[in-house]
Amino acid sequence: MNILVTGGAGFIGTNFIRHALAIRPDWRIVNLDALTYAGNPANFEDLAPDQAERYRFIHGDIGDASLIERIFSEEDIQGIIHFAAESHVDRSILGPEKFLKTNIIGTFRLLHASLNFWKTMGRPEEFRFLHISTDEVYGSLGSEGYFTENTPYDPSSPYSASKAASDHFVNAYFRTYDLPTLITNCSNNYGPFQFPEKLIPLMILNILEKKSLPVYGDGKNVRDWLYVIDHCDALIRVFEQGKPGETYNIGGGAERQNIEIVYLLCDLMDKRLGRSGSKSSRNLIHFVTDRPGHDFRYAIDSAKIKQELEWSPHHRFEDALGNTVDWYLNHMDWVNSVRSGAYRKWIEINYQERENS
Ligand code: NAD
Ligand code: TYD
Repeated sequence: MNILVTGGAGFIGTNFIRHALAIRPDWRIVNLDALTYAGNPANFEDLAPDQAERYRFIHGDIGDASLIERIFSEEDIQGIIHFAAESHVDRSILGPEKFLKTNIIGTFRLLHASLNFWKTMGRPEEFRFLHISTDEVYGSLGSEGYFTENTPYDPSSPYSASKAASDHFVNAYFRTYDLPTLITNCSNNYGPFQFPEKLIPLMILNILEKKSLPVYGDGKNVRDWLYVIDHCDALIRVFEQGKPGETYNIGGGAERQNIEIVYLLCDLMDKRLGRSGSKSSRNLIHFVTDRPGHDFRYAIDSAKIKQELEWSPHHRFEDALGNTVDWYLNHMDWVNSVRSGAYRKWIEINYQERENS
């Protein structure tokens, strides 16, 4: 089975490829990634030899249709798992255009190249295009209720609007051209290899370095946290057993307010760093200006994937968060390699204004 993964040098893609190579010995994976600030090809340097033989990296853009066509024919691709995206809400607020280019136009070009290939390939009934999307397309919940696959789309940020548009194109390619597509909409992931611009790794590193912990607004916004390996297991199930044309929601069943997450991280880190009392990292917490259009709550109803594909998350939130903390503390070389000058510039731009207001 030859599979094209896009965006595999980013957070979820890296975990997915490493996990899939380990548990699916008959899969060969081609990873196409443009290596934006969020992509790191070194994430695969330590693969075991039998896995490295089944892995190929190609540096390129999902919007480059002729490259995609070449990969399809050279590699005899039987399925696509599409992670590549611009993924950070705050970056989409400060610079939305890249989000339209990659998430909408890029996805459209990938779909169209897939369609052309699919029409001429042998065994077209085996082909699958799995599009990875987000619960943010559904907008914001109040304090009650859950997102189901039938919740109307109501995106708030340029990021979620671009993902919503890409989901509509994927569904259009199924309905109009019969391309066998699948969509998953998942909640907030956490785990190893997450770029330290997102809440959990940013807080872990700021605690370590005794920097201010910037909590947006009153810290009461709620996210439904999904351990990345549980997510990867769900994706393999949808890819192998999901019904083309369908959407599957994937949630971690671990709703927490942001401030609860930050408290927990302070406590987990303090235990490891021997800080307590007046030295507690909780003293670093700083409430800063809220994100514009900040969705209040996300929470997923995962009943469909649980019933139809017998998936459920296996990791307990507090344990997996502790493992995540340990992973960062044990991989400071990785952290330092991804925190480039451009990263430091981003932190300055995003937080300076918030801190000052
Ligand atoms: P990420 O930002 O860590 O990684 C994105 C990867 O895509 C990077 O390796 C980047 O180099 C690559 N990329 C960007 N533009 C590209 C292009 N034009 N061509 C080829 N590669 C390109 O993102 P992530 O957190 O791993 O998210 C993966 C997918 O999952 C995204 O589609 C995202 O919308 C979705 N998602 C993520 C979360 C989350 O909590 N991280 C939650 C829901 C959905
Ligand atoms: P984030 O990790 O950016 O994911 P998303 O916006 O896709 O949910 O943010 C998670 C939550 O944490 C979100 O409600 C915004 C909040 N947040 C902060 O309070 N401070 C921060 O520095 C960051 C990055 C996020």
